[in-house]
Amino acid sequence: MDQRKGRRLVLFPLPLQGHITPMLQLANILHSEGFSITIIHTYFNSRNPSNYPHFTFHFIQESLSESEASTTDLLALVALLNTKCLGPFRDCLARLLSDVVEEPIACLISDAILPFTQAVAEDLKLPRMVLRTGGASSFVVFAAFPLLRDRGYFPIQDSRLEESVTELPPLKIKDLPVIKTRDPEALYRVVNGMVDGAKVSSGIIWNTFESLEESALATLGQQFSVPIFPIGPFHKCIPASSPSLLTQDQSCICWLDKQAPKSVIYVSFGSIAAISGTDFLEIAWGLTNSKQPFLWVVRPGSTHGSEWLEPLPRGFLEMLDGRGHIVKWAPQQEVLAHPAVGAFWTHNGWNSTLESVCEGVPMICMPCFTDQKVNARYVSDVWKVGVLLENGLRREEIERIIRRAMAEKEGEEIRGRILCLKEKANHCLKQGGSSYEGIHNLVTHILSLEA
Ligand code: UDX
Repeated sequence: MDQRKGRRLVLFPLPLQGHITPMLQLANILHSEGFSITIIHTYFNSRNPSNYPHFTFHFIQESLSESEASTTDLLALVALLNTKCLGPFRDCLARLLSDVVEEPIACLISDAILPFTQAVAEDLKLPRMVLRTGGASSFVVFAAFPLLRDRGYFPIQDSRLEESVTELPPLKIKDLPVIKTRDPEALYRVVNGMVDGAKVSSGIIWNTFESLEESALATLGQQFSVPIFPIGPFHKCIPASSPSLLTQDQSCICWLDKQAPKSVIYVSFGSIAAISGTDFLEIAWGLTNSKQPFLWVVRPGSTHGSEWLEPLPRGFLEMLDGRGHIVKWAPQQEVLAHPAVGAFWTHNGWNSTLESVCEGVPMICMPCFTDQKVNARYVSDVWKVGVLLENGLRREEIERIIRRAMAEKEGEEIRGRILCLKEKANHCLKQGGSSYEGIHNLVTHILSLEA
């Protein structure tokens, strides 16, 4: 029989792929623990509620203009969402709280990067927990922003990129989680807002697991007085298809079925990162010259100035003769779990990094911005489960790094280490494992919150 807890949770994701996915995965976990789930979602990047019949959806009108919604300035978008969602979100939450027919709401769980929700929740006397969708190691760096600023690391100077950040080994200055923006102050505001909002929340939930980020979690445990719950990897807790904003092209699975075990390089730079036309061509030639089969996700619009594959030279695809397969969006978790995949050339978004770890696939790291840079340094220098592409995006360098990751002894050692991490990821979800226990602790904590 369905054992409901008689308590409702209201979840509010940041409406971007890398944030919606873990929030809905968390919703599934908490639903399976007996909570009723209400999702407040913007119309921007909205989900089809019929795919989630077990959740109740409420959509809010955030009133982004067409140009605001299509901006490539991620920080500006996040700042706008924090401003424009305020009124509609508060009205929606107040309405939900006044509904006496539904079960009482135990708490709000919002994306950490939507800190305006803290004041709304306080105003409505509802406890607020946060979900931090990125890793704990990068959060330690975000939490250190004021210190790093005081010590002169920001704004980052090109002449100092290779210097170590002595306060945060093994990071170099070039690994600090920044992003290009028209307004550099906006970065500090968004980061500090996220960290300060998390500090005064009723608890922080992390899509990570203890044996992966033990040291960062311990640091955060000392710096933050609120409880923290590392209960990932979410996508392995409950098998459910991932919410995808783009249509996944299943043709790549049939193509992978025809490839030799561990021979394919899977290339994807996530849902936001974009590259120049020159870089796109270097990637194309580097992959071709490597002689390895490759599956390449080229998201429409992800190359500056092109819609899709226009920069490729005429006859390029025919020349590959089936050795390369290009799609607009792949069923990534299925791809990474496929026996033909031997390496993942990734931008190191946190979801991709975790998905690669969980399938034991060595990474070639090409971080683009923010937490991706920290994740990539941890993958290459701390966990040693990947190689970092750091000498520029030239075809010869690409060929060389693919050989390192796939053909040489270094590649074998990397594979051994990532298989060991995969084991740990599996273990933490089993009875007695850290995330298994963490979910139990989280449920107890939520039920103890007094609205
Ligand atoms: C964004 C930020 O860029 C990143 O820094 C932060 O860590 C999370 O949010 P994003 O670019 O979306 O990340 O990458 P990532 O976190 O890796 O998430 C991408 C998701 O899309 C993954 O769950 C992945 O499985 C999925 N995906 C990606 C597909 O399903 N198909 C694809 O072809 C590519």
